Amino acid sequence: MDKVVIVFVALIHVSVSLWTCTSDLDCSSQAGSVCVAGSCQCPAGQEAISTGTRCVGVAPYHTSPCFETNQCSRLWINYECRRTDNNTEGTCECMEGNHYFLGRCWRSRDYRETCQRDEECITTPRDPYALKCDGVCVCADGYYERQRGECRKIGNAVGDGCVVNEDCHFPDAVCDIRHFNCTIRSDDRSDTLNLNELVYFSTEETNALSDREVESVHNTRCTNDSECDTPATCTFGACVCPTGFYKYNGTCYAELGTPSTPEQCDGILAVVIDGICSCPPNFFYHENMRSCIRVSRRLTDSCMVDAHCHTFGAQSRCGAPREPWGLRSCECITENAVWDQNRNICRLFAGVGEGCEVDNDCLAGELQITCVKNEEGQGFCSCPPHLTEFEGLCLTSGLVLGDDCQATPECNGTQNSICTNNKCSCAEGFQQEGDYCAPVIGGPCTQDTDCVIQNTECRNTTDGLTCQCHDGLVGYEQQCYTVSPGINASCTVSAQCKATMGETVDCVDGLCACIADHHYRDGRCWRITGLFESCSRTSECYLSDMSGVVSCRNGRCQCDFNHPYSETLNTCVSSGTTIYGSLVTILTLFMLINI
Ligand SMILES: *[C@@H]1O[C@H](CO)[C@@H](O)[C@H](O)[C@H]1NC(C)=O
Ligand SMILES: *[C@@H]1O[C@H](CO)[C@@H](O)[C@H](O)[C@H]1NC(C)=O
Ligand SMILES: *[C@@H]1O[C@H](CO)[C@@H](O)[C@H](O)[C@H]1NC(C)=O
Ligand SMILES: *[C@@H]1O[C@H](CO)[C@@H](O)[C@H](O)[C@H]1NC(C)=O
Ligand SMILES: *[C@@H]1O[C@H](CO)[C@@H](O)[C@H](O)[C@H]1NC(C)=O
Ligand SMILES: *[C@@H]1O[C@H](CO)[C@@H](O)[C@H](O)[C@H]1NC(C)=O
Ligand SMILES: *[C@@H]1O[C@H](CO)[C@@H](O)[C@H](O)[C@H]1NC(C)=O
Repeated sequence: MDKVVIVFVALIHVSVSLWTCTSDLDCSSQAGSVCVAGSCQCPAGQEAISTGTRCVGVAPYHTSPCFETNQCSRLWINYECRRTDNNTEGTCECMEGNHYFLGRCWRSRDYRETCQRDEECITTPRDPYALKCDGVCVCADGYYERQRGECRKIGNAVGDGCVVNEDCHFPDAVCDIRHFNCTIRSDDRSDTLNLNELVYFSTEETNALSDREVESVHNTRCTNDSECDTPATCTFGACVCPTGFYKYNGTCYAELGTPSTPEQCDGILAVVIDGICSCPPNFFYHENMRSCIRVSRRLTDSCMVDAHCHTFGAQSRCGAPREPWGLRSCECITENAVWDQNRNICRLFAGVGEGCEVDNDCLAGELQITCVKNEEGQGFCSCPPHLTEFEGLCLTSGLVLGDDCQATPECNGTQNSICTNNKCSCAEGFQQEGDYCAPVIGGPCTQDTDCVIQNTECRNTTDGLTCQCHDGLVGYEQQCYTVSPGINASCTVSAQCKATMGETVDCVDGLCACIADHHYRDGRCWRITGLFESCSRTSECYLSDMSGVVSCRNGRCQCDFNHPYSETLNTCVSSGTTIYGSLVTILTLFMLINI
């Protein structure tokens, strides 16, 4: 028992006073600390990191600058100090798979996923109030499901907030997208929108999107809350904004979801609704929970991030920059959805066997298929009677070369054809001959008549039965050529020469010749190997005009015995030449001496 107490006391001691001191100078081992009442402590608004060797600013908010994960502990669970590397400052963030809301991190649960709390439920178009937890995440009360997993706030009366017509749920209702409120449809043409006005809106809001950086310096010292401007409280010896607020330009601003005054609710497009700092109905929430996402009114509106496009559903994205201005605009993710002009939405497809209401909901590949209702009135997407289902597609059959197709089984009207790039075309190893696919040279065959290329026959090869040129001929680019007998023989293509002499010959100016850096010897072309260079066979050895006198001995090209090497001439010379050369030398020397 005593031991436990002692350890406990020791721990407290360590965390409070790391070093005893008499002046700030004694505290140099804890960089930035000061001497307070005989112990080195970080100054107000700072905390110790790197096991107490350094003081840095506290990190009380989401996105606060930080160095160590435990600095971010105000985020409750699943938080981290996200840094690019161990030496740079990072920011307090929620870990992957979590989101920030109401001052802490929550495990993110998508539509229809099991959950424990409403706060966990969030989908791609981000509105933390759109879903509730009912064992699984479902649309919250007052929200409707526009399509699978997309819950939007219902406008029940004229004047209620909206973004698209579908948000307004009463007779003859439309959404007036100049003011984003529901109104009664009118035929008055003067009411129609001025397009330039819309473009102006978008640009203005886009410019305002720059992110605010949370402040890290808290140098307003305090000892109790009443010394801090409301709503800040005295924490870490300094005035810090309470949970649900962030500090910017010396002021505490409310995050989205926090009860606040209009002045505190200062994020882009943020408004106070029922006393809570919120986004207008069916505007979406930025992940930092400070600003709202501007809505795009038309699919062609400019955008910077995918979230700008979620007016058109989760299956929309901000497309790639386009020439000439590099502007990006919203587009549907065509693998999953199709643009529906009437509903102003990238409409999700239901596949074969999935639930549907109308034919338009159903898509098999790129083919619109039918929604068939069962006895209970539930609809399921099915292939029309004349088509057969195959791997989620509805297929026809009997298509021939050149027909539009979805999958290879449909192209059975022409033998040996497949579906590539949505057209029936000849399979690999075949080429089109009129309206059928004939084997190419090397392509599979069963009998000689299959091989329609001139001078070919069906032969048993290592690849099975394939079309090959007759004996004495060689195939090149789907033609058969006569094999050239050897060097200097006439040729049209290099394959004719290679068939007899291998890869080191080419057809040059109509004759078979060695390729560069090669020489002809003993029926083949070999890489040029000079005197004294290493070799593995005599044929490789080369000496200009007289290769016959060099041979490969002891792994090197050397002069043969009848033609010794002359250092003076740097070549092989006949024995006679050597003696003659020596005589000339001696004579010359003799003459020189006598003169
Ligand atoms: C950063 O520090 C952690 C813990 O000290 C270590 O596990 C990790 O390997 C370091 N990463 C790099 C990139 O140095
Ligand atoms: C819609 O909002 C605008 C601007 O806030 C307002 O002037 C207008 O009266 C509202 N419309 C309706 C039908 O409430
Ligand atoms: C807080 O400080 C104020 C003035 O500085 C003082 O009047 C008040 O009694 C203090 N409250 C507490 C709880 O210490
Ligand atoms: C910062 O606050 C000061 C005084 O409160 C104000 O004058 C200034 O405009 C603010 N700056 C920004 C960028 O909000
Ligand atoms: C193509 O396949 C379908 C279904 O498998 C079959 O009914 C049809 O007879 C075939 N057509 C040809 C020309 O082989
Ligand atoms: C092709 O050759 C292989 C091996 O020589 C032999 O087993 C096979 O039966 C032959 N096929 C035909 C169709 O002649
Ligand atoms: C090829 O022909 C040329 C010109 O007739 C001749 O000089 C050369 O020696 C011949 N090459 C061979 C390897 O026979």
